Amino acid sequence: MKRLVLLLILCLPASILAQKFAGLAPTPPMGWNSWNTFGVNVDEKLIKEMADAMVSSGMQKAGYNYIVIDDGWEDMARDKQGNLIPDPKRFPNGMKAVGDYLHLKGFKFGIHNCAGTKTCSGFPGGRGHEFEDARAYASWGVDYLKYDWCNHGTANAEETYKTMRDGLYAAGRPVVFSLCEWGNNKPWLWAQDVGHLWRTTGDITDCYECQDVYALGWKYILKLQIGLEKYAGPDHWNDPDMLEVGMPKLSLAESRAHFSLWCILAAPLMAGNDVRKMSDEVRAILTNQEVIAIDQDPLGKQGYQFMEHPGKQIWVKELSDGKWAACFFNDSDEKVRVRVHWPHLSFLKGDYEVRDVWQAKNLGTTAKNFDGDIAPHDVILFKLSPVKPAAP
Ligand code: GLA
Repeated sequence: MKRLVLLLILCLPASILAQKFAGLAPTPPMGWNSWNTFGVNVDEKLIKEMADAMVSSGMQKAGYNYIVIDDGWEDMARDKQGNLIPDPKRFPNGMKAVGDYLHLKGFKFGIHNCAGTKTCSGFPGGRGHEFEDARAYASWGVDYLKYDWCNHGTANAEETYKTMRDGLYAAGRPVVFSLCEWGNNKPWLWAQDVGHLWRTTGDITDCYECQDVYALGWKYILKLQIGLEKYAGPDHWNDPDMLEVGMPKLSLAESRAHFSLWCILAAPLMAGNDVRKMSDEVRAILTNQEVIAIDQDPLGKQGYQFMEHPGKQIWVKELSDGKWAACFFNDSDEKVRVRVHWPHLSFLKGDYEVRDVWQAKNLGTTAKNFDGDIAPHDVILFKLSPVKPAAP
């Protein structure tokens, strides 16, 4: 009987046995990615400096533990045997040396490649090389793979990403698999067993509400998340793209609002600013423990848009222990006055303690209305905790 079972297992196609590595992202991954500030201008020195700055700035302590090298690390072609090779000038000691450094500093090592024949910046893509590339990543100590979608030709997204997942699984080193397919084929409908996170849109860019053919400001990216909340959860997150917090074209209010709303969305928190040079104000946003705790709440529920009026969007997120987060976002260019009569938030049951998270101030209970102003493009972020019944 045992032999029969073994025989049956051996006869199963490899793809049936393959799966994603489970349990690697119980809460949304946090880290830093090179793309938003540096584009393809990445090298070993930069990555090491950034890792050091992530430690000295308190970012690592705040939970940002993946450092992801995006497009630009590769040489222009594979070697004669078909192996991926890093650019010898930028990464003269190879990628394992970078991984070793990151691991030594307590980080996990992330890398980028593409499901097509070439990456979006023209470096060798993974198509047709998935299993051998996965073995190379494993030998370099890679813990996280962001896998892009440029130059995919007529490839089917679901099949292509499954092939890479199977390659990673066969290579045997647990890797968080980040699908960067821009939401083109609705990965939220099929990627739950393929990756740990999937992009829901095209690229974010360094602004509040600009847009061009390739990229959108965060206000528009936010809107595209409406309705996707039901597809996210532990180990399978919607990814509304990386953080632009602290980037030059965002005001502090816009950075604060962007960060708050990404936390309500249970978004992966991938900082993209130059952490070697960030201001104290930007650092205070990115490392605010109470706000990060909303993103990382163990219940693992993505928040949703509860209400929208011009100048007033309300986004809410259910948290563990009956708590809620509520983010009031002024998307207009004028200051708005808000009066919150808490029972109007129909999901609340009973009385709650109200805390203004950014002000770090307790405001009493939901029995009392809240009155306040919200500056243009800014938010007020509340945490609501059920009032405990008085001890008998
Ligand atoms: C695509 C991705 C970006 C980035 C670039 C790199 O545009 O969506 O996040 O990885 O490719 O070329």
